[in-house]
Amino acid sequence: MKSHFKNIEQKLSNRKSENALRELKFNENLVDFCSNDYLGLATESKVHILDEVVNETFGATGSRLISGNHKVTEEVEAFLAAYYKAESALIFNSGYNANIGLFSCLPQRGDTIIYDELIHASIRDGIRLSNSNSFSFKHNDINALEEKINKAKGNVWIAVESIYSMDGDEAPLKEIVEVCKKYDAALTVDEAHACGVFGDKGEGLVVEYGLENEVFARVATFGKALGSHGAIVLGNKLLRDYLINYSRAFIYTTALPLPSIFAIKKAHTFLKGNIERIQVLKDLISYFKFKIQNSKFKIVVSDSSIQCIVIPGNDAVKALAEKVQNNGFDVRPILSPTVPKGEERLRICIHAFNTKAQIDGLFKAIGI
Ligand SMILES: Cc1ncc(COP(=O)(O)O)c(C=O)c1O
Repeated sequence: MKSHFKNIEQKLSNRKSENALRELKFNENLVDFCSNDYLGLATESKVHILDEVVNETFGATGSRLISGNHKVTEEVEAFLAAYYKAESALIFNSGYNANIGLFSCLPQRGDTIIYDELIHASIRDGIRLSNSNSFSFKHNDINALEEKINKAKGNVWIAVESIYSMDGDEAPLKEIVEVCKKYDAALTVDEAHACGVFGDKGEGLVVEYGLENEVFARVATFGKALGSHGAIVLGNKLLRDYLINYSRAFIYTTALPLPSIFAIKKAHTFLKGNIERIQVLKDLISYFKFKIQNSKFKIVVSDSSIQCIVIPGNDAVKALAEKVQNNGFDVRPILSPTVPKGEERLRICIHAFNTKAQIDGLFKAIGI
Protein backbone atom coordinates (compact mmCIF):
# COMPACT_ATOMS: atom_id res chain seq x y z
CA MET A 1 0.00 0.00 0.00
CA LYS A 2 3.06 2.26 -0.20
CA SER A 3 1.87 4.15 -3.26
CA HIS A 4 -1.62 4.59 -1.78
CA PHE A 5 -0.22 6.34 1.29
CA LYS A 6 2.24 8.29 -0.84
CA ASN A 7 -0.64 9.78 -2.85
CA ILE A 8 -2.52 10.67 0.31
CA GLU A 9 0.56 12.31 1.80
CA GLN A 10 1.12 14.26 -1.40
CA LYS A 11 -2.45 15.62 -1.33
CA LEU A 12 -2.08 16.69 2.30
CA SER A 13 1.25 18.33 1.65
CA ASN A 14 -0.35 20.28 -1.25
CA ARG A 15 -2.85 21.66 1.25
CA LYS A 16 -0.03 22.52 3.69
CA SER A 17 1.97 24.35 1.04
CA GLU A 18 -1.11 26.49 0.25
CA ASN A 19 -1.54 27.17 3.98
CA ALA A 20 -4.99 25.61 3.58
CA LEU A 21 -4.73 22.45 5.65
CA ARG A 22 -7.98 21.73 7.49
CA GLU A 23 -7.62 20.60 11.10
CA LEU A 24 -10.13 19.73 13.81
CA LYS A 25 -10.09 22.11 16.78
CA PHE A 26 -11.93 22.53 20.06
CA ASN A 27 -13.78 25.72 20.84
CA GLU A 28 -11.71 27.18 23.65
CA ASN A 29 -14.17 29.15 25.73
CA LEU A 30 -14.09 32.05 23.33
CA VAL A 31 -17.00 34.38 22.58
CA ASP A 32 -18.93 32.54 19.88
CA PHE A 33 -18.89 34.42 16.59
CA CYS A 34 -18.59 31.33 14.43
CA SER A 35 -21.24 28.70 15.19
CA ASN A 36 -24.56 28.28 13.39
CA ASP A 37 -26.44 28.35 16.71
CA TYR A 38 -27.99 31.69 15.70
CA LEU A 39 -30.72 31.70 18.36
CA GLY A 40 -28.88 29.91 21.16
CA LEU A 41 -31.22 26.91 21.02
CA ALA A 42 -28.34 24.40 21.08
CA THR A 43 -27.87 25.10 24.79
CA GLU A 44 -31.53 25.67 25.65
CA SER A 45 -32.49 23.10 28.28
CA LYS A 46 -36.19 23.43 27.43
CA VAL A 47 -35.33 21.96 24.04
CA HIS A 48 -32.86 19.28 25.06
CA ILE A 49 -34.09 17.83 28.35
CA LEU A 50 -36.42 15.25 26.96
CA ASP A 51 -38.85 13.58 29.37
CA GLU A 52 -40.63 12.08 26.36
CA VAL A 53 -37.77 9.71 25.64
CA VAL A 54 -38.20 7.69 28.85
CA ASN A 55 -41.02 5.48 27.56
CA GLU A 56 -39.83 5.23 24.01
CA THR A 57 -37.20 3.20 22.21
CA PHE A 58 -34.03 5.29 22.15
CA GLY A 59 -32.59 4.24 18.82
CA ALA A 60 -34.60 4.21 15.60
CA THR A 61 -33.64 0.50 15.15
CA GLY A 62 -33.60 0.61 11.36
CA SER A 63 -34.33 2.57 8.24
CA ARG A 64 -37.74 4.23 7.94
CA LEU A 65 -38.92 1.57 5.46
CA ILE A 66 -37.97 -1.34 7.73
CA SER A 67 -38.27 -0.87 11.52
CA GLY A 68 -37.35 2.79 11.96
CA ASN A 69 -40.71 4.43 11.23
CA HIS A 70 -42.30 5.55 14.49
CA LYS A 71 -45.66 7.14 14.99
CA VAL A 72 -44.00 10.11 16.63
CA THR A 73 -41.80 10.68 13.56
CA GLU A 74 -44.82 10.95 11.28
CA GLU A 75 -46.59 13.17 13.82
CA VAL A 76 -43.58 15.48 13.89
CA GLU A 77 -43.50 15.53 10.08
CA ALA A 78 -47.16 16.59 10.00
CA PHE A 79 -46.41 19.25 12.64
CA LEU A 80 -43.46 20.54 10.61
CA ALA A 81 -45.43 20.59 7.36
CA ALA A 82 -47.97 22.86 9.09
CA TYR A 83 -45.23 24.98 10.72
CA TYR A 84 -43.52 25.61 7.38
CA LYS A 85 -46.79 26.00 5.43
CA ALA A 86 -46.20 22.99 3.20
CA GLU A 87 -48.56 20.22 2.15
CA SER A 88 -46.13 17.54 3.19
CA ALA A 89 -42.75 16.97 4.83
CA LEU A 90 -40.15 14.22 5.03
CA ILE A 91 -37.38 14.14 7.62
CA PHE A 92 -33.82 13.33 6.53
CA ASN A 93 -30.89 12.62 8.86
CA SER A 94 -29.14 15.88 7.98
CA GLY A 95 -29.22 18.71 5.48
CA TYR A 96 -26.35 17.05 3.65
CA ASN A 97 -28.42 13.88 3.32
CA ALA A 98 -31.54 15.76 2.30
CA ASN A 99 -29.77 17.53 -0.56
CA ILE A 100 -28.00 14.38 -1.74
CA GLY A 101 -31.30 12.52 -1.50
CA LEU A 102 -33.27 15.16 -3.36
CA PHE A 103 -30.96 16.06 -6.21
CA SER A 104 -29.72 12.55 -6.95
CA CYS A 105 -33.23 11.28 -7.70
CA LEU A 106 -35.45 14.18 -8.81
CA PRO A 107 -34.03 15.16 -12.21
CA GLN A 108 -34.29 12.33 -14.72
CA ARG A 109 -31.83 11.41 -17.48
CA GLY A 110 -32.12 14.11 -20.16
CA ASP A 111 -33.31 16.78 -17.69
CA THR A 112 -31.18 19.79 -16.75
CA ILE A 113 -30.31 21.19 -13.33
CA ILE A 114 -29.20 24.81 -13.20
CA TYR A 115 -27.64 25.89 -9.93
CA ASP A 116 -26.15 29.04 -8.48
CA GLU A 117 -22.34 28.94 -8.72
CA LEU A 118 -22.08 29.39 -4.92
CA ILE A 119 -24.43 26.54 -4.11
CA HIS A 120 -23.60 24.33 -1.13
CA ALA A 121 -21.40 21.24 -1.57
CA SER A 122 -24.27 18.92 -0.58
CA ILE A 123 -26.33 20.06 -3.58
CA ARG A 124 -23.33 19.74 -5.91
CA ASP A 125 -22.74 16.22 -4.64
CA GLY A 126 -26.42 15.35 -5.15
CA ILE A 127 -26.26 16.69 -8.71
CA ARG A 128 -23.14 14.62 -9.39
CA LEU A 129 -25.06 11.51 -8.39
CA SER A 130 -27.94 12.29 -10.74
CA ASN A 131 -28.09 11.31 -14.41
CA SER A 132 -29.04 14.78 -15.58
CA ASN A 133 -27.23 17.60 -17.39
CA SER A 134 -26.13 20.44 -15.15
CA PHE A 135 -24.90 24.03 -15.45
CA SER A 136 -24.05 26.66 -12.89
CA PHE A 137 -25.11 30.30 -13.33
CA LYS A 138 -23.39 33.45 -12.09
CA HIS A 139 -24.20 34.08 -8.44
CA ASN A 140 -27.60 35.74 -8.00
CA ASP A 141 -27.64 36.89 -11.64
CA ILE A 142 -31.13 36.57 -13.12
CA ASN A 143 -30.01 37.24 -16.71
CA ALA A 144 -27.36 34.55 -16.44
CA LEU A 145 -29.99 32.16 -15.07
CA GLU A 146 -32.32 32.89 -17.97
CA GLU A 147 -29.49 32.42 -20.48
CA LYS A 148 -28.72 28.99 -19.05
CA ILE A 149 -32.41 28.00 -19.03
CA ASN A 150 -32.54 28.81 -22.74
CA LYS A 151 -29.80 26.23 -23.36
CA ALA A 152 -31.41 23.55 -21.18
CA LYS A 153 -32.94 20.28 -22.35
CA GLY A 154 -35.70 18.17 -20.80
CA ASN A 155 -37.42 19.26 -17.62
CA VAL A 156 -35.54 22.12 -16.00
CA TRP A 157 -34.70 22.21 -12.27
CA ILE A 158 -33.30 25.25 -10.55
CA ALA A 159 -31.34 25.05 -7.28
CA VAL A 160 -30.66 28.06 -5.04
CA GLU A 161 -30.14 28.83 -1.37
CA SER A 162 -32.31 31.54 0.14
CA ILE A 163 -29.34 32.67 2.29
CA TYR A 164 -25.93 31.64 1.00
CA SER A 165 -23.85 29.81 3.55
CA MET A 166 -20.48 31.42 2.90
CA ASP A 167 -21.47 35.07 2.46
CA GLY A 168 -24.87 35.25 4.13
CA ASP A 169 -26.32 37.15 1.19
CA GLU A 170 -29.84 36.60 -0.08
CA ALA A 171 -31.08 35.11 -3.36
CA PRO A 172 -33.49 37.33 -5.35
CA LEU A 173 -36.21 34.77 -4.74
CA LYS A 174 -39.15 36.73 -6.14
CA GLU A 175 -37.38 37.31 -9.45
CA ILE A 176 -36.20 33.72 -9.60
CA VAL A 177 -39.77 32.52 -9.06
CA GLU A 178 -40.92 34.72 -11.97
CA VAL A 179 -38.25 33.27 -14.27
CA CYS A 180 -39.18 29.74 -13.20
CA LYS A 181 -42.84 30.43 -13.99
CA LYS A 182 -41.94 31.85 -17.40
CA TYR A 183 -40.02 28.71 -18.37
CA ASP A 184 -41.98 26.16 -16.36
CA ALA A 185 -38.86 25.31 -14.34
CA ALA A 186 -39.10 23.63 -10.91
CA LEU A 187 -37.42 25.64 -8.16
CA THR A 188 -35.79 24.09 -5.08
CA VAL A 189 -34.66 26.35 -2.25
CA ASP A 190 -32.21 25.38 0.49
CA GLU A 191 -33.20 27.38 3.58
CA ALA A 192 -30.46 26.05 5.90
CA HIS A 193 -29.37 29.54 7.01
CA ALA A 194 -32.76 31.28 6.69
CA CYS A 195 -34.67 28.80 8.79
CA GLY A 196 -35.16 30.15 12.34
CA VAL A 197 -34.01 33.63 11.27
CA PHE A 198 -36.56 34.80 8.66
CA GLY A 199 -40.34 34.52 8.66
CA ASP A 200 -42.59 35.46 11.60
CA LYS A 201 -41.71 32.29 13.49
CA GLY A 202 -38.52 31.32 11.67
CA GLU A 203 -40.15 29.53 8.73
CA GLY A 204 -37.56 30.93 6.32
CA LEU A 205 -37.52 33.41 3.46
CA VAL A 206 -39.85 31.50 1.15
CA VAL A 207 -42.64 31.89 3.70
CA GLU A 208 -41.59 35.44 4.57
CA TYR A 209 -42.20 36.35 0.90
CA GLY A 210 -45.35 34.20 0.63
CA LEU A 211 -43.79 32.03 -2.08
CA GLU A 212 -44.48 28.65 -0.52
CA ASN A 213 -46.87 27.64 -3.31
CA GLU A 214 -44.45 28.72 -6.03
CA VAL A 215 -41.53 26.46 -5.17
CA PHE A 216 -41.25 22.77 -5.96
CA ALA A 217 -39.31 21.86 -2.82
CA ARG A 218 -37.62 23.46 0.17
CA VAL A 219 -34.95 22.05 2.45
CA ALA A 220 -34.95 23.26 6.06
CA THR A 221 -32.18 22.10 8.39
CA PHE A 222 -32.30 21.82 12.16
CA GLY A 223 -28.61 21.77 13.11
CA LYS A 224 -28.26 25.53 12.78
CA ALA A 225 -30.74 28.06 14.22
CA LEU A 226 -32.94 25.26 15.57
CA GLY A 227 -30.04 24.03 17.69
CA SER A 228 -30.64 20.32 17.10
CA HIS A 229 -29.98 18.03 14.12
CA GLY A 230 -31.63 16.65 11.01
CA ALA A 231 -33.46 18.26 8.12
CA ILE A 232 -36.73 18.22 6.27
CA VAL A 233 -37.78 18.31 2.65
CA LEU A 234 -40.98 20.31 2.25
CA GLY A 235 -43.23 19.96 -0.77
CA ASN A 236 -46.40 18.26 -1.87
CA LYS A 237 -47.56 14.74 -1.05
CA LEU A 238 -46.46 13.44 -4.44
CA LEU A 239 -42.90 14.59 -3.73
CA ARG A 240 -42.92 12.89 -0.32
CA ASP A 241 -44.15 9.59 -1.83
CA TYR A 242 -41.54 9.83 -4.57
CA LEU A 243 -38.68 10.42 -2.13
CA ILE A 244 -39.78 7.49 0.02
CA ASN A 245 -39.57 5.32 -3.10
CA TYR A 246 -36.53 6.69 -4.93
CA SER A 247 -34.30 8.73 -2.62
CA ARG A 248 -31.42 6.44 -1.74
CA ALA A 249 -30.17 8.79 1.01
CA PHE A 250 -33.55 8.34 2.68
CA ILE A 251 -34.01 4.62 1.99
CA TYR A 252 -30.60 3.18 2.82
CA THR A 253 -29.83 4.66 6.21
CA THR A 254 -30.92 4.19 9.81
CA ALA A 255 -33.50 6.81 10.75
CA LEU A 256 -32.72 9.55 13.28
CA PRO A 257 -32.95 8.36 16.90
CA LEU A 258 -36.15 9.39 18.68
CA PRO A 259 -34.48 11.93 20.99
CA SER A 260 -33.51 13.83 17.84
CA ILE A 261 -37.11 13.70 16.60
CA PHE A 262 -38.41 15.00 19.94
CA ALA A 263 -35.72 17.70 20.03
CA ILE A 264 -36.74 18.90 16.55
CA LYS A 265 -40.36 19.25 17.69
CA LYS A 266 -39.37 20.94 20.95
CA ALA A 267 -37.05 23.38 19.21
CA HIS A 268 -39.94 24.54 17.00
CA THR A 269 -42.43 24.74 19.87
CA PHE A 270 -39.89 26.69 21.90
CA LEU A 271 -39.19 29.07 19.03
CA LYS A 272 -42.90 29.68 18.42
CA GLY A 273 -43.25 30.66 22.09
CA ASN A 274 -40.10 32.80 22.12
CA ILE A 275 -40.10 34.58 18.78
CA GLU A 276 -38.67 37.70 20.40
CA ARG A 277 -35.29 35.95 20.10
CA ILE A 278 -35.47 36.48 16.36
CA GLN A 279 -35.90 40.22 16.93
CA VAL A 280 -32.99 40.30 19.41
CA LEU A 281 -30.85 38.69 16.71
CA LYS A 282 -32.09 41.12 14.03
CA ASP A 283 -31.25 44.11 16.28
CA LEU A 284 -27.71 42.82 16.79
CA ILE A 285 -27.27 42.26 13.04
CA SER A 286 -28.37 45.90 12.46
CA TYR A 287 -25.92 47.10 15.12
CA PHE A 288 -23.07 45.13 13.48
CA LYS A 289 -23.91 46.52 10.03
CA PHE A 290 -24.23 50.08 11.31
CA LYS A 291 -20.84 49.93 13.03
CA ILE A 292 -18.99 48.40 10.08
CA GLN A 293 -20.48 50.54 7.31
CA ASN A 294 -17.71 53.14 7.20
CA SER A 295 -14.76 50.84 7.86
CA LYS A 296 -11.86 50.44 5.43
CA PHE A 297 -12.67 46.77 4.89
CA LYS A 298 -14.53 45.25 1.96
CA ILE A 299 -17.65 43.61 3.32
CA VAL A 300 -20.27 41.37 1.78
CA VAL A 301 -23.74 42.90 2.01
CA SER A 302 -25.98 40.68 4.10
CA ASP A 303 -29.03 40.98 6.35
CA SER A 304 -28.53 37.53 7.78
CA SER A 305 -26.58 36.23 10.77
CA ILE A 306 -23.60 35.60 8.50
CA GLN A 307 -21.38 38.62 7.87
CA CYS A 308 -18.08 38.53 5.98
CA ILE A 309 -15.03 40.77 5.88
CA VAL A 310 -12.80 40.15 2.87
CA ILE A 311 -9.11 39.81 3.78
CA PRO A 312 -7.25 38.68 0.62
CA GLY A 313 -4.72 35.86 0.96
CA ASN A 314 -4.75 32.72 3.09
CA ASP A 315 -1.76 33.92 5.15
CA ALA A 316 -3.30 37.32 5.92
CA VAL A 317 -6.75 36.05 6.82
CA LYS A 318 -5.36 33.23 8.96
CA ALA A 319 -3.10 35.65 10.83
CA LEU A 320 -5.97 38.06 11.49
CA ALA A 321 -8.28 35.26 12.66
CA GLU A 322 -5.56 34.08 15.06
CA LYS A 323 -5.11 37.58 16.43
CA VAL A 324 -8.86 37.97 16.98
CA GLN A 325 -9.02 34.55 18.64
CA ASN A 326 -6.16 35.53 20.93
CA ASN A 327 -8.33 38.46 21.97
CA GLY A 328 -11.07 36.06 23.06
CA PHE A 329 -13.37 35.98 20.01
CA ASP A 330 -14.03 32.86 18.00
CA VAL A 331 -14.08 33.76 14.31
CA ARG A 332 -12.92 31.52 11.51
CA PRO A 333 -11.01 32.32 8.33
CA ILE A 334 -12.51 31.06 5.08
CA LEU A 335 -9.59 30.12 2.88
CA SER A 336 -9.09 29.49 -0.79
CA PRO A 337 -9.90 27.05 -2.39
CA THR A 338 -13.20 27.17 -0.43
CA VAL A 339 -13.54 30.72 -1.82
CA PRO A 340 -11.67 32.02 -4.92
CA LYS A 341 -8.10 33.29 -4.37
CA GLY A 342 -8.17 36.96 -3.34
CA GLU A 343 -11.65 36.58 -1.81
CA GLU A 344 -10.49 34.96 1.45
CA ARG A 345 -12.54 36.26 4.35
CA LEU A 346 -13.32 36.35 8.02
CA ARG A 347 -16.76 34.81 8.42
CA ILE A 348 -18.57 36.19 11.44
CA CYS A 349 -21.81 34.67 12.72
CA ILE A 350 -23.99 36.80 14.98
CA HIS A 351 -26.21 35.17 17.58
CA ALA A 352 -29.14 36.30 19.72
CA PHE A 353 -26.94 35.63 22.77
CA ASN A 354 -24.12 37.95 21.66
CA THR A 355 -24.06 41.47 23.08
CA LYS A 356 -23.29 44.90 21.66
CA ALA A 357 -20.24 45.04 23.94
CA GLN A 358 -18.99 41.79 22.42
CA ILE A 359 -19.44 43.21 18.92
CA ASP A 360 -17.52 46.33 19.99
CA GLY A 361 -14.74 44.13 21.38
CA LEU A 362 -14.64 42.05 18.20
CA PHE A 363 -14.32 45.17 16.03
CA LYS A 364 -11.51 46.48 18.20
CA ALA A 365 -9.65 43.18 17.85
CA ILE A 366 -10.08 43.25 14.06
CA GLY A 367 -8.90 46.86 13.90
CA ILE A 368 -12.16 48.54 12.92
C1 LIG B 1 -26.72 25.72 2.63
C2 LIG B 1 -26.50 24.45 3.38
N1 LIG B 1 -27.20 23.36 3.03
C3 LIG B 1 -27.05 22.20 3.67
C4 LIG B 1 -26.16 22.08 4.72
C5 LIG B 1 -26.00 20.77 5.40
O1 LIG B 1 -26.81 20.72 6.53
P1 LIG B 1 -26.44 19.74 7.74
O2 LIG B 1 -25.38 20.41 8.52
O3 LIG B 1 -27.73 19.56 8.46
O4 LIG B 1 -25.95 18.47 7.12
C6 LIG B 1 -25.42 23.18 5.13
C7 LIG B 1 -24.49 23.07 6.28
O5 LIG B 1 -23.36 23.39 6.22
C8 LIG B 1 -25.58 24.40 4.44
O6 LIG B 1 -24.87 25.47 4.78
